[in-house]
Amino acid sequence: MSIDWIAGSGAALHGEMDISGDKSISHRAIMFAAVADGVSRIDGFLEGEDTRATAAVFGQMGVRIEAPSDGVRIVHGVGLDGLREPSAPLDCGNAGTAMRLLAGLLCGQDFDCELIGDASLSKRPMRRVMDPLMRMGAQVEAANGGLPPLRIRGGRALRGIDYTTEVASAQVKSAVLLAGLRAHGETVVREAQPTRDYSERMLAAFGWPIEFSPGIARLSGGHRLRASDIAVPADFSSAAFFIVAATLVPGSELVLKNIGLNPRRTGLLHVLRAMGADIAEERRNERGGEPVADLRVRHARLRGIDVPLEHVADMIDEFPALFVAAACAQGITRVRGAAELRVKESDRLATMAAGLAELGIRVDETADGADIYGGTLRGGSVESHGDHRIAMAFAVAAQMSRGRIRIADVGNVATSFPDFDACANAVGLQVGRAT
Ligand code: S3P
Repeated sequence: MSIDWIAGSGAALHGEMDISGDKSISHRAIMFAAVADGVSRIDGFLEGEDTRATAAVFGQMGVRIEAPSDGVRIVHGVGLDGLREPSAPLDCGNAGTAMRLLAGLLCGQDFDCELIGDASLSKRPMRRVMDPLMRMGAQVEAANGGLPPLRIRGGRALRGIDYTTEVASAQVKSAVLLAGLRAHGETVVREAQPTRDYSERMLAAFGWPIEFSPGIARLSGGHRLRASDIAVPADFSSAAFFIVAATLVPGSELVLKNIGLNPRRTGLLHVLRAMGADIAEERRNERGGEPVADLRVRHARLRGIDVPLEHVADMIDEFPALFVAAACAQGITRVRGAAELRVKESDRLATMAAGLAELGIRVDETADGADIYGGTLRGGSVESHGDHRIAMAFAVAAQMSRGRIRIADVGNVATSFPDFDACANAVGLQVGRAT
């Protein structure tokens, strides 16, 4: 049965918050540790449905993964040749990252396998990974028009490729690089718009020779991965909802601790600051080779801006939160160059536009963006379309609305931020299950 939330305006946000581990890094930590030689320990692992699905998939392929406590995984790596043929389809749940990266990692194995997903993932485009992988010699079949499930035939000899990505996608880049591990010769991935570089950084941490800088990554097949301990920083994309909430609600001052600040993830900080936000970085440090800091966010009044194109890829998961900030800002916020939002867990341009319109905000959608007219939010009922980030964004919107907001179908919040409602209520928001 689907779960709905009722969210209303709470108090000013105060206190310190610990946010759960980064989803992108948690997926990769499991995958890379699973095919490394030796035992790796992951600390700060995200206990979300998406990342647990990835761990379960490797369990099906014979990798022993212990969970001695929450947020910790001990992965007994089997090496790049040690995975076993699964006896059932590999269920990636809601996770595009899992399906696309696994396609790259598994297309050079000796066995066949099938990757399946939930209703949302089953509508997401897979051609973007199938095309380069097939050019490398892989055999991958999809359902009509390149949709999951993906059927991968094993026993194919892969060749390296020099590939320029057609969409800004770290998932595509990572899939090609992972196929490159088992390919003959060199694999190069070039990007017009650099995307998050976690795969590149983590391959280096696991001892694979790789050269990379923004816009290009280069590696050769035929090496081995060595087990490595990974400390996962807190997820910037989860923190984003509270950054926006504390900015919007008058009187707020909130500290978000040890947030991962990889420059390919923090576009939202630049954009919110340009809109007038007051976000200070304190106690800068490093965790697992990633920059982290505490973010102190104080209430500020925002004004609309044209979101610079150069930040779009670096905040691709943060648009639902940004739309809420824009709805409460003075003036118009214009987003362009963000067509990728149409193929996320939902069509995020359409879902945010429809939800905000229901709450009294004018949003003019374009093919690749929207103009959001700042105004006054009223209460109402919105659809999340089963999209975790849409649900959380509207919970933030409710803190600023004149009446309560009912948010339908929020169960998928558990994919990325299982304790969102508890965390939210602890710092002053008001979010509860509808009965
Ligand atoms: C991710 C990359 C992004 C992002 C997703 C996680 C990753 O997708 O939206 O939530 O872990 O590589 P794309 O690379 O397809 O834009």
